Amino acid sequence: MPDIRLPQKPTVEDAADVLRRISADRDFLGTCVLPLLGEAAKARGWYVAHSSAHGPCTLQVFVWPPGTATRVHDHSSWGAFCCVAGSVVEERYGRLDDGRTPEHARLRRLWRRRWGGRSGISTVLPYEGGIHRLANPSAEPAVSVHLYGPRSGKIDGRDYAPLRDYVCDRV
Ligand SMILES: [Fe+2]
Repeated sequence: MPDIRLPQKPTVEDAADVLRRISADRDFLGTCVLPLLGEAAKARGWYVAHSSAHGPCTLQVFVWPPGTATRVHDHSSWGAFCCVAGSVVEERYGRLDDGRTPEHARLRRLWRRRWGGRSGISTVLPYEGGIHRLANPSAEPAVSVHLYGPRSGKIDGRDYAPLRDYVCDRV
């Protein structure tokens, strides 16, 4: 894995800088990412191929076989990701309710964007600051690199079911 250097109290902007360096690192792409594309052909769902702690941050490499997708979810930390092989589609949501009713959340889709090639870095802020869903609707596998900051709560984040206006904690 590439050498990650972050300040003691990293911000989401620091994470984006690290991801910019990683996505231009030919060694990393050749030795770590390329083999994952072959592996992806045997997998059915998306999975985390690598996870490592770097001070308060966590670096994860995700593999996205064709046709895979996450739930709509958020994180209790900030996060940043870039797609380093193939492409993924991100849908971002906003919350319309006030969050006071347990297990209830009304969402509105804000935007949909395809990330891949040199299209840049997506960032999310904790909880309502980054409700999203990632998917690979293409016919080719994809690999993305994610860097998450320290958790700001006890939970990992929340999962949403927008068709039922439902939300629950994810531990
Ligand atoms: Fe996420």
